[in-house]
Amino acid sequence: MENFTYFNPTRIHFGRGQIAAIDRELPAEARLLLLAGGGSIRSNGVLEQVRKAVGRRTVFEFFGVEANPDFDTLMKAVELCRRERIDWILPVGGGSVLDGAKFVAAAVNYPGDTWEILLTRGDSLTSALLIGAVLTLPGTGSEANGASVISRRARKEKLAFINPLVFPRFSILDPETTFTLPERQISNGIADAFTHVMEQYLTYPAGAAIQDRFAESVMRVLIDEGPGSVKNPTDYDSRANVVWAATWALNGAIGAGVPQDWASHVIGHELTALHGIDHARTLAVVMPSLLNVQRATKGAKLLQYGERVWGIREGTESARIDAAIEKTRAFYEALGLGTRLSDYNVGASVAPEVAGRLRARGELAIGERSDITPEVVEKILRQAA
Ligand code: NZQ
Ligand code: ZN
Repeated sequence: MENFTYFNPTRIHFGRGQIAAIDRELPAEARLLLLAGGGSIRSNGVLEQVRKAVGRRTVFEFFGVEANPDFDTLMKAVELCRRERIDWILPVGGGSVLDGAKFVAAAVNYPGDTWEILLTRGDSLTSALLIGAVLTLPGTGSEANGASVISRRARKEKLAFINPLVFPRFSILDPETTFTLPERQISNGIADAFTHVMEQYLTYPAGAAIQDRFAESVMRVLIDEGPGSVKNPTDYDSRANVVWAATWALNGAIGAGVPQDWASHVIGHELTALHGIDHARTLAVVMPSLLNVQRATKGAKLLQYGERVWGIREGTESARIDAAIEKTRAFYEALGLGTRLSDYNVGASVAPEVAGRLRARGELAIGERSDITPEVVEKILRQAA
């Protein structure tokens, strides 16, 4: 096991009615920015509950954060915070709204060009406003991590930054707030969470038994509960297990002390930037193909995954690896996500295009062994056509 430092400072309030806990978390004199997306929280009663919980505190509301939150929109929220001397950001929504809040919190007091926060991957941050989140879409793990992914449509860019300063101080996870999710969004969330586990687990053995067994449990819960929770959205316990699994998929615990890949995410972000494909759907396209292209270096873990997660015990090593990759593809497809570029009307010419963009940005060696070069990225995308 590699050395690690593990710290997760987010206090989670989980369950029915927990939005009321906001009142205990915020100081009476807090000046708040409530950040939201396109309006789902108006129609499902979540906004009403949040307004009740914040009570008489000073609150400004900013709606309109897009799926794949956009830099230019968020900079308008940053201006509002500067003007009104906001000290807490209260995102209410899915991963995009939470990620947007992290960028706003980081940008308000940032000296200089705020896009630098993305270009330095968060290393240049020295302060951020406080964040308290209400999550209405499980999947990204943004409710209990220090990561944020921001799009800049004007430049066709999508980049991530990570810094412990933007962990939410608290997050509210009430599974009932997710009952109104359209099938497409809850399926995306389950597939995203599953892929987060794969990115941290499906590398090479590192002697990390707790992390491995824990990762396998999170995947099994998503497999056992995910498709049923899509079909029966108001089954509380099933949805509660999905929500909690998604948090554990990316709150740092299973990734501590182990090698991590993240190449599927890097490649997937390019597909979203270029073609606007939903984040989780880009992963459903890239991951099965990446596993196949990297099957030699990931072989030991693919066999372990096949056996422990899918019960694959028969056949040659190569046949068991094939079966494990096919099970992964079938899981995405059972959730309703297409796993080929052609499912999104994207041609194979995207392969050299994405490779060229990574080359231009100097991302020449990604993956847990730094062996996924732009040439390998091109191969992965060609196989995903
Ligand atoms: O905007 P509103 O009206 O709220 O509608 C949203 C949006 O259209 C809707 N929605 C959310 N909660 C709802 C609801 N509709 C009905 N009922 C509810 N309870 O769902 C749509 C999609 O929301 P979005 O927040 O975009 O989805 P998701 O949570 O999948 O977030 C995706 C973003 O997160 C980033 C992705 O790259 C993408 O930009 N990621 C963030 C990560 C992180 N911070 O650690 C890691 C991930 O790998 C990911 O990259
Ligand atoms: Zn993701």
